[in-house]
Amino acid sequence: MSAPEFAPAGVIAPGKVFRDQEGKVAQLHGVGIQQFGDTFYAWGEDKTNGDRFTGVACYSSTDLATWTFLGHALAADENIEDLGPDRIIERPKVLQAPDSRYVMFLHVESGDYSYARLGWAVADRPEGPYTYLRSERPLGNISRDIGVFQDEDGTGYVLSEDREHGLHIYRLSADHLAVEEIVSTTLAPPSDHPLGSHGLESPAVVKHEGLYYLFGSELTGWDTNDNQYATATSLAGPWSEWNGFAPAGSCTFDSQTSVVVPVRGTETTSFVYVGDRWIREDLFHSAPVWLPLTLKDGVAELQWHEQWTVDTVTGVVS
Ligand code: GAL
Repeated sequence: MSAPEFAPAGVIAPGKVFRDQEGKVAQLHGVGIQQFGDTFYAWGEDKTNGDRFTGVACYSSTDLATWTFLGHALAADENIEDLGPDRIIERPKVLQAPDSRYVMFLHVESGDYSYARLGWAVADRPEGPYTYLRSERPLGNISRDIGVFQDEDGTGYVLSEDREHGLHIYRLSADHLAVEEIVSTTLAPPSDHPLGSHGLESPAVVKHEGLYYLFGSELTGWDTNDNQYATATSLAGPWSEWNGFAPAGSCTFDSQTSVVVPVRGTETTSFVYVGDRWIREDLFHSAPVWLPLTLKDGVAELQWHEQWTVDTVTGVVS
C-alpha cells in the first residue's frame, strides 16, 4: 500500500488526505456536512476496520480545510443488532429538524449488502452522542446510498438509491423521524448497465437561484465513473436530462459524489463538491476529492485545482 499524501495545512488539496488536530488521517469518507452558525460539522465513515462499522466520526471546521476530531458521534455497539461488529454503515448524513433535534440518517447494511435499510439516530448536539433509533426499508423499498436535503421551509428529504425502481426523493415527517411519501423517482441515463433501468447512487441535492440540482453516480461500486446531474424547479420534477459536470472520461476527476456544500458568504455563494476517491483495499486512506463547483443558469461545472481555499465568511474561492 502506498503511503498517503497529506494535504498541506489550511488548504483543500484534492486527492490528498486531511489530518485532524492530532495528525491522524481524518475519516471523512461518505461524509455528510452541515453548517450550524459559523461552524461546519462533518460526519464520516470511520474505516479503521475496513468496510466493517467502527463508528461515525465527527469533525468540525470553520474553513472546510482544517478539521478537528470531536469523537465518535455514533459508535459500534454489539448490543444493538444494527450497530454490531458485522455491520456495514455508510453515508452518515445529519439534518437539524425543526424541533431543533439533530437527526442522523444512515445506510445500514449486512456484509453481503442484502439488508439495504435506512437507519435513524438522534442527538441534542451536532457532535452527539447520537442515540440509535431503528432502521427500515422506506415504504417497503430497498435503500442503499443516501443523501439528505432540507428546503428553505424546513421540510426534510432523504434521497435513496433503490435499484429496483430508481433514485427516490422521499419527504420526511416534520420531526424528520419517518418517511412519508415519494416526491419523485428518477432513472439513470440509458446505458448498457447489467441492471437495465435503475437509479443513480451517492445522491446529493442543492438549491440555487430557485433551481434544484440533483447529483449522483452510476452504480460501479468502489470504482469511479462520470457522475451526472439533473435540474428541476420542484423536487417533484420534471427533472431535466442527466449530464456530466466534470470533463467526460475523467470519472469526475476520479471521485464519487458524497455531498455538495453551499457556502453562503457575504459576497457570494460558492459550492463545494465533496467526493470520495475510494481505495478498495485500503478504505481508511481513501482520499477526499473536494473541488469548487460552479452552478449557473442550470449548468453545473466542476473545476480542477491542485490546492484551493474557500473563505467561509465571504464565500469567495481562491
Ligand atoms: C458503492 C457505494 C459505496 C459503497 C460501495 C460498496 O456503490 O457508493 O458507498 O457502498 O458501493 O461496494
